[in-house]
Amino acid sequence: MTELREIYYCEICGNVVEVLNEGAPSLVCCGKPMIKLVAKKEDSTVEKHVPYVEEKDNGVLVKIGQNAAHPMVEKHYIKFIEVLTKDKVCRAELKPGDDPEAWFPIKKSDIIVTREWCNVHGLWES
Ligand SMILES: [Fe+2]
Repeated sequence: MTELREIYYCEICGNVVEVLNEGAPSLVCCGKPMIKLVAKKEDSTVEKHVPYVEEKDNGVLVKIGQNAAHPMVEKHYIKFIEVLTKDKVCRAELKPGDDPEAWFPIKKSDIIVTREWCNVHGLWES
């Protein structure tokens, strides 16, 4: 069974979907089961992926990553950043050339998980 807020990936076409209402036993794309993404939490790569959250302007600024900015070029960039609270999923959609960061009108203390998806290195959370 799928679960609310899970993210699935199609290895064939690159489709990425987020579950908004659980129920299906599995998700299928391009005739094959989609892969449930499990977020990584620790970086061992040169590019930093773990979201870094700081309080700013009555909200939070989420940066990818803390000291070195993740690349934002056509072949390698952060596609989206999400902040999850008890009853909200806030998502910023990014594109090549943007800064790898997003501001959300959310109290830091309300955040359960912050996550991002890199088109090369997959899903990461903090
Ligand atoms: Fe990356």
